[in-house]
Amino acid sequence: MFLKQCSCKSKENFIFFHIILVICSFSFLTLCKAKDSSSYASGNTFAIATDHALASEAGKIVFQKGGNVFDAYVAASFAISVLRPQSTGLAGGGFALVKSAKSGSIEAYDFRERAPQLASENMYLDSKGEIIENQSLFGYKAVGVPGNVKGLLSIHKRYGYLSLEQVLEPALRLANEGFSVYEDLHIAIDKSKEEMNDAARSIFLRNGNALKTGSVLVQKDLGNTIQKIILNGEKEFYELETANSIVRSMQLNKGLISLKDLKDYKVIERKPLKITYKQYEIISFPPPSSGVFLFEILKFLEHQNIQSLFTDDPTAYYRLLIEAMKQGYEDRSIHGGDPDFSFVPVEALLSRDYLADRTIEVLRKSRADVKSSGEIPKTLESYNTTHISVMDSMGNAVSSTHSVNYIFGSRIVIPGTGLIMNDTMDDFATSVGSSNAYGLVGGSKNLIEANKTPLSSMSPTFIQENGQMLIAIGAPGGSFIPTAILQTILNRLEFAMSPYEAVASPRVHHQNQPNFVFAEQNLSNKLKALEEFGYKFKFTENRAKVFMVEREKNGHLHAVSDPRGQGTPSAY
Ligand code: DON
Repeated sequence: MFLKQCSCKSKENFIFFHIILVICSFSFLTLCKAKDSSSYASGNTFAIATDHALASEAGKIVFQKGGNVFDAYVAASFAISVLRPQSTGLAGGGFALVKSAKSGSIEAYDFRERAPQLASENMYLDSKGEIIENQSLFGYKAVGVPGNVKGLLSIHKRYGYLSLEQVLEPALRLANEGFSVYEDLHIAIDKSKEEMNDAARSIFLRNGNALKTGSVLVQKDLGNTIQKIILNGEKEFYELETANSIVRSMQLNKGLISLKDLKDYKVIERKPLKITYKQYEIISFPPPSSGVFLFEILKFLEHQNIQSLFTDDPTAYYRLLIEAMKQGYEDRSIHGGDPDFSFVPVEALLSRDYLADRTIEVLRKSRADVKSSGEIPKTLESYNTTHISVMDSMGNAVSSTHSVNYIFGSRIVIPGTGLIMNDTMDDFATSVGSSNAYGLVGGSKNLIEANKTPLSSMSPTFIQENGQMLIAIGAPGGSFIPTAILQTILNRLEFAMSPYEAVASPRVHHQNQPNFVFAEQNLSNKLKALEEFGYKFKFTENRAKVFMVEREKNGHLHAVSDPRGQGTPSAY
């Protein structure tokens, strides 16, 4: 009938309809490809992207039981702490951007770990001023005062509809009944088992070996801790029995965290960082996050003709992208830190004149500027940290990254609690110019001080158009986080890729130090010509995994969990 109708019209119309037909079939095939993948889900009511199918399910079930997006977020976050103990946990910390569609307001909750009151600038240096290897990474001294429980419970108290018991039910069940060990978890246990304390080994090892893929991991002690939090709220973790267990263990093992540290812990509500990018409003987490450096790179690129470069001159596009990244990370190492302790020149970093100067500087770069130095980060795999993006059709949304930092954090479990303690103290600069586990060079603003929050790469982000929520996005991946979010945003807003393609497409990363372009193998042809400029490449899978939910104007939702990982989103 379609062709019959066409035959009555002009030849031009016939060709036009054929073109439309081809475009429709192509879009349909693209959509099918995406929908076939366990990395994509869509629905008209609710969507969540996390790093484990059961965490996404936990969020969805709680929403379907009459909860809202915020209940779903808290449910998924506690569940992922049980399911990905190598990545995050109740004794970790994080950031959450929260949007209430009703009030239209966006809030930024900082519940990241803080330096204990006994911490000091030189605590990881020996008497000669040399860095004591691994002391900021493994063991009791590496632990920052945890914020996850207070952060999550604050958000639940403020926005949740359901009781804490209803919201934490999935996490409690997963801890007590167990779940099947997946490959990522097995590998993470195997990589960390040497440094684990006895309490950690008793949970994650059998006869000295990492739990095998497919075996069941039950965490009874963690289940008891969650049960006590349901009964006593945040006081359980910061003042009562659990707090006392943490402090006792710290005292016995030369750790620094005191009961006062726990009691005094405060969630900080910060002012979200906003920029306009073309017709969009992009909102990210302010310092001590790296949202400002992500924005710096984005604002620089806004004034370049990247759409045509991307298709017509990939060499020029990637050179510009890489140089902009280098500039952003250089500024990160100089200016990044806790704004309550040192001034972070956010406005200057994002100002137009500054960017114009930088444009000239970047374009002047010559071969001589491109030297290779610095160390390759300790690990290029992504087993640690996690992100949750969740939204409903009304545009209520949360974008939250949380972590115990390195794989299994400090590798310490507090006996009797099932709690894996973070090692986020490593995100501080141990000394000016030294690099952390992600190869990131720290400056004086990120030196250790009591009660200070370490600089973070975690950058949960929202994108709005005309005040309407469009995208919630974020990623784990250490230093790779800002550049992964950046490229996904460009793929979606500039290069018109589908949500799935925007996340899955190959990425590059440069963090200024070490002076390498980290690139995914399937970009090697496009990047070849850059070798002539002296760039050194390290071809490796991108360490960051992006979790994104997008909302169409009609409220239809798309959720993507990065296919680089084993996560699965959920939607209905
Ligand atoms: O806050 C930070 O920057 C780090 N603690 C994040 C660590 C991370 O994403 C690890 N992922 N591979």
